[in-house]
This record gives sequence, structure tokens and C-alpha cells, in this order.
Amino acid sequence: MSIYISGVGHCFPDRKITNDDFAKVIETSDEWIYSRTGIKTRGYASGVPTWKMGVIAAKEAIENAGIEASEIGLIITSTITADFFTPSVSCLVAGELGLTCPAFDVGAACSGFVYALDTAERYLRTDDSLKYALVISSEMLSRYTNFGDRSSAIIFGDGAGAVVIQRREARVQNTEIYGAYLGSDGSGGKHLYGKLPFPSYPFYDYAITDMEDYPGPDNVIVQNGKEVYKFAVKAMPAAIEKALERAGITPAEVDFFIPHQANIRIIETAAKTMGIPLEKFIVNIETHANTSSASIPLALYDAVKDGQIKRGDTICVCGFGAGLTFGAMVFEF
Ligand code: UT7
Repeated sequence: MSIYISGVGHCFPDRKITNDDFAKVIETSDEWIYSRTGIKTRGYASGVPTWKMGVIAAKEAIENAGIEASEIGLIITSTITADFFTPSVSCLVAGELGLTCPAFDVGAACSGFVYALDTAERYLRTDDSLKYALVISSEMLSRYTNFGDRSSAIIFGDGAGAVVIQRREARVQNTEIYGAYLGSDGSGGKHLYGKLPFPSYPFYDYAITDMEDYPGPDNVIVQNGKEVYKFAVKAMPAAIEKALERAGITPAEVDFFIPHQANIRIIETAAKTMGIPLEKFIVNIETHANTSSASIPLALYDAVKDGQIKRGDTICVCGFGAGLTFGAMVFEF
């Protein structure tokens, strides 16, 4: 048996917001943003909700896999920016594709794609009746950006990536998902969060008293950048090392690493720590910024379309983010 990624798709907004655009509305500069993060522009969805970006990415991935939508037997979406708290993005996508298969979302923030892909892979491995699964990561971070906080506002952007994964009975050389290493550190949750407002309805005559660690404003992403940075530069190499160890693969055998695109300096530091040349890291942060869980499938999509990643290449993806969560996964493309 072999489980592999048979299709990739994406949705990246046409509307580009440059660093200079930011400098018009908050006190910042292209020089500061680019030198501290590696970001030049980001896409803002502008009227296309999270679930619709997911549909667009999903349809392209299905077409790229050369199958019919009706063949999909499972949909898992990772998102922290769903348009509704219910129904899930996956159910809305299923409805749009005319499907009645199991459909649910996972919330693991910027590690979400790795969590969703690992979950889908486990379904395929254990359920003989299932042949194709759709994994989507779709995020509209612009909707939850705190424009009053210049250090976090400038890093986020919108977009969606999707993959079809499929099972086939015979192993075909160089097409295999090897598995993942996932983890979390909830004690760091207070360093990166989005707090929901509490209602002022009848019978809600009490105040929440134990949220001292989460003092930021409601409905926006609150980030202690320095703390998350320190976590990321340790979590990334550790997760990659563990995932490769489980797969029985050495770093030298990996053709490309696809890290979560949070900050170029995090990627450079992690590469240096692991002694891996930076050229082996797929990076599109300059044009895409940080799209949370969508960043890894978007970078995979771009690298495949550019011909940088080819069938048979060994890939290691790695996410880290709110939760705090982390996860790495190894597969042959
Ligand atoms: O995707 C989820 C995971 N998230 C991450 O991985 C994010 C990790 N963290 C980071 O990437 C960085 O912490 C940031 C890019 C978010 C911020 O960079 P930083 O070097 O940690 O900046 P800071 O917030 O500590 O601010 C340093 C200085 C401050 O000025 P003073 O107090 O030293 O005078 C800030 O006021 O830079 C100032 N500053 C800015 N100046 C111009 C902060 N943001 C800006 C800005 N433009 N946009």
C-alpha cells in the first residue's frame, strides 16, 4: 500500500498590500519590515471568505489529481479564521462540491496543515473503503489583524492551499507519506492568541475572572513576538529531527524542507542550527507573508508549479505556532 499526495491547489488573493501601503496607515517602513521579517507584500482576500478560498484551492487540487470531486471520501480543513463557528469550513466546502462525506476542521494554528495531513493519512491507512482525501488549509488573517499593534499587523496575510492524498494498493517507488511528529506546549498559549468577546446577554451577570494571562483586545490576534520567536527557533529543528528519525531518513536525504513561513530569520536560524543549507528550504515569505496554516501548502504549490519540487523528491514540512503547537511530516512527493 502507498499513500501519497496526488494533487495540489491554491487560492492566493489578487489584492497585494505592500510594506509601503502599511507605512501609510501605521508607523512603520519597508526597511523595518523587510529587514526584520523578509516580507515585502501580502495578499488580502478582500471579499472572498475563508471557506470560498478553500473551495477554490480544493477544486484546483482535485483537477490536478485527475479525479472527480465525487471520488473524495474525506475532507479535513485546518483554519483559525473560519467564517462561522459552525458549520465548519470543511462542511461548507463539501456542500459546494456536492459531497456528503465526513468533513471536519482542525484547529492547530500555523501547524494546522501538518496536523490535518497526518490525520487524513491515518484515515486512509486504516479505512479500506477510503481512497481519496482532501486536506485544505485556508486562512483570512487580515480579518483578525490588530492594526493597533505594528509588530504583529505587518506579518500576516491571507490565502489557501489544498492537497488531495490518495491510497493505492501497490507501493510505487518514491511516492509515500512516511508520517509525522506532532506536539504542543499549552503553557505558551498566552504568547499567541485570539480572544473571543464575552456576551452581555441576560443571565450573563458574571465576569470571567481567570484570564489574567490573556489581557489583549478581543477578536484580534495578540502576539508576544519575541517569545514566539524563541519557541520557533527551538521547536522547528526539534520537530524535524524527530519526524526524520521516525521515518528513518537523514537530513541529507531530504531534497526540500518546507517550513511555516513566519519570519525569514526563524528559517535561517533553524537551518543554521541543523547544519542544512538554506537553499534546501522553500521560501515564499517575501510575497506571501505569514498565512498561518496555509503557508506550507501554498509554498508546496508554488515550488511544484515552478518545477523546483519534482515527483519523487523527499520533502519535510514543518509548522509551529499558536497553542503553542509544532509538527513536522516527511513524504515523497
Ligand atoms: O505564525 C505564528 C508564529 N509567529 C512567529 O513566528 C512570529 C515570531 N516573531 C517575530 O517574527 C518577530 O518577533 C516580529 C517580526 C513579530 C517582531 O520583531 P521584533 O524584532 O521581535 O520586534 P519587537 O516587537 O520586539 O519590537 C522591537 C522594536 C520596538 O521598538 P523599541 O521599543 O526597541 O524602540 C518596536 O516598537 O521595533 C519596533 N517595531 C517596529 N518598528 C517599525 C515593532 N514593529 C515595528 C514595525 N515598524 N512594524
